[in-house]
Amino acid sequence: MLHGKHILLVISGGIAAYKAQTLIRLIQKAGGTVQAILTKSAAEFVSPLTVAALSGKPALTELFDLTQETEIGHIELSRSADLIVAAPATANLLAKLAHGLADDLASTCLLATDTPIMTAPAMNVRMWEAAATRRNMATLRENGVIVVGPDEGEMACGEYGPGRMAEPEAILAAIETHFEGAPKPLAGRYVIVTSGPTREPIDPVRYISNASSGKQGTAIAEALAALGAKVSFITGPAEYANPQGCDIVRVTAAREMDAAVEKALPADVAVFCAAVADWHVANPAQTKIKKEAFEDPPPLNFAPNPDILKRISTLESGRPDLVIGFAAETGDLEARAARKFAAKGCDWLLANDVSTHHGVFGGNGTDIVFFDSNGHERWGAMTKTAVAQKLAQKVAAHFR
Ligand code: C5P
Repeated sequence: MLHGKHILLVISGGIAAYKAQTLIRLIQKAGGTVQAILTKSAAEFVSPLTVAALSGKPALTELFDLTQETEIGHIELSRSADLIVAAPATANLLAKLAHGLADDLASTCLLATDTPIMTAPAMNVRMWEAAATRRNMATLRENGVIVVGPDEGEMACGEYGPGRMAEPEAILAAIETHFEGAPKPLAGRYVIVTSGPTREPIDPVRYISNASSGKQGTAIAEALAALGAKVSFITGPAEYANPQGCDIVRVTAAREMDAAVEKALPADVAVFCAAVADWHVANPAQTKIKKEAFEDPPPLNFAPNPDILKRISTLESGRPDLVIGFAAETGDLEARAARKFAAKGCDWLLANDVSTHHGVFGGNGTDIVFFDSNGHERWGAMTKTAVAQKLAQKVAAHFR
């Protein structure tokens, strides 16, 4: 319920702007009040008159509208709200917010406030996945901006993927959670999550690694933190290595990851999501290996890395209450994963097929077979975020 809560709704220009009208109604139905600001391009998608009629207040658009400036003032406007919600939030609006640009009423209000800000990004999938947007989103998350969505699906432009604005009902739920405080079933629990690839040096400039993006581990760490767990996120050099609300420990080689896990113990739960190299080069060269020094390609001698998952699963004392492993296989998934589950000694194992044609490494989707002492079950095709949420809920249920 939102009784007594005043929301400043910033609508920026995207096809999803029409959904902001539903959001206004939902907020009002829940007992809240809404003051809407439209960017110039939002006014091309929805009429300020309609928004004004729905919200019962003039829809504001211009920074230099004297009446608005003298009677309300943009500073007062943003500070008097209990929450600012930018929905839809375009790539442009998010970039401006990340960089502190203020060249219209919407961006000025977002900058001139210490009121919490929630954003519901909406954009084409390529724009959402662009390196610049990813950097901006990481900055915004670091700055404490709440991000809802985007959803994955068919886009107005005909492409498929993440970028669709979260449904108004989901945004309302996030607003209510913000005010009520979400239930925190994992409060007081301490969790270790490993993620990403490891990098095993050959010489000071060359290394052996793998294609793990860190997406699944990041999503799991965030989902556990959202349920109140204190998360120590131990990551190799990955593209995704910045989960919100977690303590981050960055490592390079498997033996460093092992040492970091050891240091992070004791823990209630350990999730081993990292794609750890099985071997390291036994004697990495101290200086760059010169092509001229070898007639044939130089031989590499390998030594085994510690199997972190197995080591922690079989600890005689100080074993986490719940140890969760992953299995990345290429073919014959269930049989191989079943063998791995038995060999590692973990409590749960999440197996998926990472053959290149499945696009799991680096992709947003996966297809999990879940093993525990009762047997195994297929979770079916899901996004990595959905897998993370399901796993976090299962962890919470384990401790209930
Ligand atoms: O043996 P394999 O690498 O297939 O097992 C995968 C599982 O074991 C993952 O949970 C991974 O994080 C973990 N693992 C580990 N240390 C290793 C190798 C794998 O923790 N050296």
